[in-house]
Formats: sequence, C-alpha cells, structure tokens
Amino acid sequence: MGEPITKGIYIGGEWKEAVRGGTIDVFNPATLEKLATVPDAGDDEAAQAVDAASSALPAWREASAYERAALLMRWYEQIMLHQEEIARTMTMEQGKPLPEARTEVAYAASFIQWYAEEAKRVYGEIIPATTAGKRLFVIRQAVGVVGAITPWNFPAAMITRKAGPALAAGCTIVVKPAEQTPLTALLLAEMAEKAGIPAGVLNVITGDAKTIAGRLMADGRVRKVTFTGSTEVGKEIMRGAADTMKKISLELGGHAPVIVFDDADLELAAEQTAISKFRNAGQTCVCANRIYVHESVHDAFERRLADKIAGLRVGYGLDEGVAIGPLIDESGLDKVKRQVEEAVARGAKAVVGGRTAEPEGSRRGFFYEPTLLTGVTPDMQIMREETFGPVAPLIPFRTDEEAVRMANDSVYGLAAYLFTTNVNRAVRAAEGLEYGIVGVNDGAPSTAQAPFGGFKESGLGREGGRQGIEEYLETKYISLGLG
Ligand code: SIN
Repeated sequence: MGEPITKGIYIGGEWKEAVRGGTIDVFNPATLEKLATVPDAGDDEAAQAVDAASSALPAWREASAYERAALLMRWYEQIMLHQEEIARTMTMEQGKPLPEARTEVAYAASFIQWYAEEAKRVYGEIIPATTAGKRLFVIRQAVGVVGAITPWNFPAAMITRKAGPALAAGCTIVVKPAEQTPLTALLLAEMAEKAGIPAGVLNVITGDAKTIAGRLMADGRVRKVTFTGSTEVGKEIMRGAADTMKKISLELGGHAPVIVFDDADLELAAEQTAISKFRNAGQTCVCANRIYVHESVHDAFERRLADKIAGLRVGYGLDEGVAIGPLIDESGLDKVKRQVEEAVARGAKAVVGGRTAEPEGSRRGFFYEPTLLTGVTPDMQIMREETFGPVAPLIPFRTDEEAVRMANDSVYGLAAYLFTTNVNRAVRAAEGLEYGIVGVNDGAPSTAQAPFGGFKESGLGREGGRQGIEEYLETKYISLGLG
C-alpha cells in the first residue's frame, strides 16, 4: 500500500462518510505507517445502521432458508476469490504474517460456508398433546436485529463467526469492528455486496467503540448483542443488556493451561504447544499461557520447545519467512514487558528471548522476541493474567491431580490442552478441566463445525458448530386446537 486510502462505512447497501465528517487513522503496527482513514462513526451512524437492519429484517427473515443459503455461499466464494487481497490488508493493519493471514481468511470464509449449509437444518418439533383435539408445534425463528462488536486479533474470522450464523438464521446485523482493524471488515462488506447480500442485511460501521456499543445496547430494536473481547467489557455489555432484555453472546478472555504428562510424545507436545502459543504472536484468547510439565520430562520438553522457538523469525508479516509479527500496539507490548520483567525479578529465567525485538530493515513497530520462561511460580502475574504475547512460561508438577488443580485455578475457562499417550488419563483429565474447549494432543482445535466458547469469566454462549446458530434463534411454541 502506498498513499493512505480513504474508505467509507457500509449502511443499507451504501458506502458513506460519517455524518459529521470525522475520520480515524489506521496504522501498520510493524512499520507505524499510516495506511488509511475510515469514518469516525458514532451515535447517528449507529442509529442509521439499526434503521437499515430493521428495514431489511422482514424480507430477509421471510426468505426461504435455501435462498439465504445460496447468497451466503456466494459471499463465501467472493471472500475466497479475494483471499490474497484480504490477507495482505489484514497483515498490514493487524501484523500477523501473510501465511497466517491467508489461513485466517479461509477460516473466516469457512464459517459462512458452514452456516450456509446449516441454514437448511433449523428444525422444529411436534409434541404429542394431552388431548386428541390439539396439535403442539415448536418452531425456531430469527431473533431479529443483531449488534456485533468484534476484536482486532482475528479481523475477519471473528466477524464471520457471528455474521454467518446470524444471517443463516434470518437475522440482520450491524457490525462494529475494532478501531485497529477496520479495513478487513470493510473488505468483507465489499464481498457481501458483490455476492448480492441485500441492502441492510449486513452493515459495517467504524468508529468509537463506546459510543457505537452504547447506541446498540440502548436501542430496543437490537434483540441480540454478540461480543468478542475483554472480560471487563463483556461484563459491561452484560449489565447493559438488562435494560432491553437482549440476548447476549460473550467470547471473552482466556488463560489457557497446557498439561504435558510424563507419558506424552514430547516432540508432538512441543510442536503443538508452539503452534498454540505463537500463532498470531500469542494474541489469541485460546493460546497456551501456562505450561505445566511433569517434573520427570520437564527438561527434555524445555529443550524441544526452545529448539522450536529458535526457528521462529520475528519481522514484518509481508516479509518472506516471518513467523512472528508485531504486537498490535504499545500498550500490548508494555503488558508483555511488564509480565516478563516481574517474573524475572522474582526468580524466573528467560531461557530464550525475554526482550523487545528489533527485526532487520526499518521496522519501528511493537515487536517482542518469542520467549521461554522457566522457574515460574503460580503467584507471578504471568500465571494469573492473560498475556496476549509470545511468552511461554513453564512450571513443573508431580501428580495428575496437582496438574488439573493448577490448570483450573483461574477465573478463565476458555481453552485447555493436554498431552498424553494414555487414553484413560486423557479422558479423566479432559473431563476434569473446567474449560469450554480441550485440545488433547492438539494445539489447534478451532474449526467452524465445533462449538467455541468458555466457562466461568471466559464468557457465555457458543460460536461455531450446531450450537452457534442456536444463539440467533428464538423458540416459539404454537398450540393448535382442532375444530
Ligand atoms: C480468539 O482468539 O478469540 C479466536 C481464536 C480462534 O478462533 O481460534
């Protein structure tokens, strides 16, 4: 990208500027260059978007599931046809390496494809009545207008994981992407327009999160709000939903434990732990954050993980061979620095990394070296708070019970991982972990056809899978008296 570009927001099938003309700048976190300006939408534009989504709702809800499915399939095809363009834009505004961005675009598109198919399987029920003169039916109907507030770490997939099931169910949607990554979101809207998704069914507005979220929460026509982001903001949304009694889905923070048992295939465990930990420079809600290793295999596992980390090149995501891009911004980098400094000051050792990185070329962005910490104790900040950075802390354990107890000692409950070759141990530990997702010998369990979501303060509801569309449906019971 050369000169910064100017983009509009997408409301009711039209590309618009902000009512008061304000804009926000979008920067590349690797180079700190300005990439684009997008409208700084607020209350007025959010209200317009809800108007558009409300107007489009009756026709979209009443279209047959097959019609909606066909349009969603065309959206899927348009996204895949433009995979490279979307991926490059994503790398520039978010930082993840280009191969990872390509994978995310395909992952994002897979939600549209999967829910296009699932639209046709929204079944009802017929219940046997107590008397011969009645028939009892249960039908499933679209919730209505949905507000979606999405994060910067997966600028495409966190939109489609919401919009796919919402549109399949017959809902219309207003999407508010993160301020750091609006360009990918606007490209998805362009693809929806090319696919022929009717005006007002999908609306995308960029701008101040608090103002737009405030309007979406206050408007009684918005019947559901879905949010991915911090637990703190998730709690505010939950409180705000009470006034108009909206449905909510919250995909919030995580602090995923990994348990490496003494009978694990250590090579596999190190490889999958590295995949989980260093994907997106550790900026995922499901990434390995606390790695518990049986004391008898601790040193052997540490050596293997250190070898994997040594092969990870830090740099600008558009450069060949880069595996770790920048963190999203200065505050993200500061948090990682603070956690590592605190751990090291209290006795941990940075076996690999442990400081900010300065990749070759004129890269001024927010880079941190992939880091392996040993000698970590459960009371250190890094073991209590979500890290959102490329740091892998190891901690030894003695018994299975101790490992599961330490793994569960968190307010979060999104994803956990375990490595063992003993199937009994795998089942017992997986069942004992208080987490919504458990990867057994698998560091990358996320997929469109499986439910994604957390226990405890990691959120409410599920995205993906058969469960994901339920979140956008109301249940209606019809009792029919026969004449
Ligand atoms: C997230 O970090 O919130 C999403 C990660 C995933 O879908 O695997």
